[in-house]
Amino acid sequence: MAKFLLKSDIDEVCQRLAVPAQAFAGKTVLLTGGRGFLGRYFVEIFARLNESVLEQPVTLVALDNLITSGQEGATIPEIENMRFLNHDVTQPFEWVGSLDYVIHAAGIASPYYYRAYPLETLEVAITGTRRMLELAEANSARFVFFSSSEIYGDPDPKHVPMAESYRGNVSCQGPRACYDESKRVGETLCYIYNTTHGTKTNTIRPFNVFGPGMQETDYRVLPNFASRIKGGEPLNVYGSGNQTRTFCYITDAMVGFLLVLLRGVSGEAYNIGNPKPEISMVNLVKKIEVLSSKSVEYNIVEYPDSYPADEPNRRAPDIRKARLQLSFNPQVDLDQGLKRFFDWANTVYTGEQ
Ligand SMILES: NC(=O)c1ccc[n+]([C@@H]2O[C@H](COP(=O)([O-])OP(=O)(O)OC[C@H]3O[C@@H](n4cnc5c(N)ncnc54)[C@H](O)[C@@H]3O)[C@@H](O)[C@H]2O)c1
Repeated sequence: MAKFLLKSDIDEVCQRLAVPAQAFAGKTVLLTGGRGFLGRYFVEIFARLNESVLEQPVTLVALDNLITSGQEGATIPEIENMRFLNHDVTQPFEWVGSLDYVIHAAGIASPYYYRAYPLETLEVAITGTRRMLELAEANSARFVFFSSSEIYGDPDPKHVPMAESYRGNVSCQGPRACYDESKRVGETLCYIYNTTHGTKTNTIRPFNVFGPGMQETDYRVLPNFASRIKGGEPLNVYGSGNQTRTFCYITDAMVGFLLVLLRGVSGEAYNIGNPKPEISMVNLVKKIEVLSSKSVEYNIVEYPDSYPADEPNRRAPDIRKARLQLSFNPQVDLDQGLKRFFDWANTVYTGEQ
C-alpha cells in the first residue's frame, strides 16, 4: 500500500464495486499515467481487488514517463501481477499478448505544469491518445480516455451545470488552450475510432477530483491551500476569487471512472464529478476555516506567471447521464471529503513547496 493513500479509501472503492468489478477477473488492463494521482489509485484498487475480491487476478501494465509524477510517483512499487514501464505514450509501444482494457490517463493535468510544458500537454492528449487507440483497436480492447471538464471552457451561465451535450466555449489561443484544445482533439479521436473502426471507446470528463495522494508539488488548488496552511502562510486566491468549482472526493471519482469502463455505453462521454455544492474560491477558504476550527488568512492576488490566467468563471457538472446509465451516485459530501483530505495532508505535507 502506497504510504500516500488511505487504506480505508481503497477499501471503500472496492466494496462499492465488488459486484461489477468481477468482470476484471483474469483480464489484462493497460493503464497510462500509472504513476500520477489517479493512476496510483487505479494501481492500489486493482491490487486490492486481486487480494480480496477476484477469484482470478487482473494483470495490470502501467506506463508513465514520470514527467509530472513527482517524488511519490517515481517510487515504483513491486506488486504481484503488475508491471511498470517507463514509457512516453507519444512513442510507439509494442504489445504482445491479450489486452482487454486500456485506461488512458496519462496527461499533464495541473495548470502549473501545462503552463510549463505546453507542447508535451498537446502531444500526450493527441499523439498519445492516437497510439493508445491503435493498440485498443488491434486488441479489441475497451478504451477509456481521460478528457476533462475543461473541454467546456468558460460556460454560458445558462448551460451551468454542464450536460455532456453542451459544446462549450473554448479559446484556441491563450495559456489554457494547449490543455483544453488537446483534450477536445483526444475526444474527437475516440469518436473517429468508435464510429469508423468499431473500437469500444468512452470519454470521461472529470470535474476537480481531490483527495489524499495529491502531492504538495501538484500545485492544484487544494494541495496548494493545504501546503500553505501547514507552512503557516496566508492562502493565495487567484483572480477575483468569485470563480466557482465543484469538488469530487477521490473515492466517488474512482467508482465513477471504473463504472464508465465497465458499463459505459460505447462511444459516449460521461461527466464524473459531484454536482453540489458549486462553490467560489473565497467561500472554499471560508469552509476550510470552519472545518479546521482555526482562522485561515487569505489574499486575493493576480495570477502569477507560473499559473495560466483566463480560467473559467464557473464549472459544475450535470451528472444525470452517469446516474442513469451507470448508477453513479457520489456519496462523500464536500465537508467530509475536505476533512479526510486535510487530516491526511496535515500529517504528510511539510509546508515547504
Ligand atoms: N484529477 C483531476 O481532477 C482531473 C480532472 C480533469 C482531467 N483529468 C485527467 O485525468 C488524467 C489523470 O489525472 P491526474 O490527476 O492523475 O494527473 P497527474 O498529473 O497526477 O498524472 C498524470 C500522469 O501522466 C504522466 N504522463 C504525462 N505525459 C505522459 C506521456 N507522454 N507518457 C507517459 N506518461 C505521461 C505523468 O508523468 C503523470 O504521472 C489526466 O489525463 C488529466 O488530464 C484529471
